[in-house]
Amino acid sequence: MSCVLGIETSCDETAVAIVGEDGRVLAEEVASQIALHAPHGGIVPEVAARAHLELLPELAARVLAESGLRREDIAAVAATTGPGLKVALVVGAAFGKALAFGWRKPFVAVHHLEAHALSVRMLADVAFPYLLLLVSGGHTQLVVVEDLGRYHALGTTIDDAAGETFDKGARLLGLGYPGGPAIARAAIGGDPYRFDLPRPLRGATAFAFSFAGLKTALQQRLHRLGGVEKLDAESRRDLAASFEQAIVDVLVDRLDRALDHYRSHWRPARPTLVAAGGVAANERLREALCALGQEKEVEIVVPPARYCTDNAAMVAYAGRERLLRGWVDGLDAPVRARWPLDESRAGRLGGGRKGPKA
Ligand code: KG4
Ligand code: ZN
Repeated sequence: MSCVLGIETSCDETAVAIVGEDGRVLAEEVASQIALHAPHGGIVPEVAARAHLELLPELAARVLAESGLRREDIAAVAATTGPGLKVALVVGAAFGKALAFGWRKPFVAVHHLEAHALSVRMLADVAFPYLLLLVSGGHTQLVVVEDLGRYHALGTTIDDAAGETFDKGARLLGLGYPGGPAIARAAIGGDPYRFDLPRPLRGATAFAFSFAGLKTALQQRLHRLGGVEKLDAESRRDLAASFEQAIVDVLVDRLDRALDHYRSHWRPARPTLVAAGGVAANERLREALCALGQEKEVEIVVPPARYCTDNAAMVAYAGRERLLRGWVDGLDAPVRARWPLDESRAGRLGGGRKGPKA
């Protein structure tokens, strides 16, 4: 028996899902809190936690009903226990532990980034190892996924995460929250090369990312144009497109070399690049990844947009992979706001912990 119920509350999405015996999604619910946080221009942790608390019982009941399963059919309950907003994580973890206790099933503590890293495997036949570009609101990482629980981090951001950069850029441009989709919409039909914005660390030999300078450059450019209020529609469109293009170029530049490095050091039989995390939902990035894949003769696998952003199916799936190896946790499993995926190299790869989820 391996049906697993998963719970995700690490940030502003309240989500519950069940994966079945074959690892495919049987039922899922995601309640976005965007409308709750939008007036604040970002996520307010206590507001998120309270909403999780109110939403979870209803979502769990609905998912169980949709799945057609009975409680007895659930083999384990999995919940994200980090990294993320502590007060938000605590709610999902406590709820998951209570279900596990009440149903007399094992509890599986899931690492949010491991869930993102594995999500592709619940949708497609992707074998270990693979190179992963993990780009979300709190993280920008290049990781070799060697096996379940074995992650070799190649590099991370030294300042802001890619999604955070989209969010900050959108705020500067007077667009809504979350910033990624808002910038992508505003950029439609724009000229991505009209404004010359920097590509920080281009050509650098390490696999680090930096985005803070790009945000500052946007701020300065806006200032020179007379402020966001003075922007005409065409300039706003071109600026959004140029900003989006700069982020994509930075990611592709690092990936290009990371793929060579991965190939020569891991010698995979079938080199595969997987992208995950909210920013992987970005169309301009997805197109650039496909082009890169063709150029470098590497298979590119990117989950559909709704499985790139936060969801509980990936948590249930990661919980199921762990359960199948017998890796379950006690009800005393801690919640960890910070929790590097590759603990052995975490200290050496620098910062990148400024995002809302860090
Ligand atoms: O993975 P995710 O849902 O939550 C975290 O774990 O952080 O990622 C959220 C981030 C936000 O910064 C959001 O602006 C960005 O992903 N994002 C996008 C798009 N959709 C979401 N960025 C660019 N283009 C998109 N279409
Ligand atoms: Zn995430």
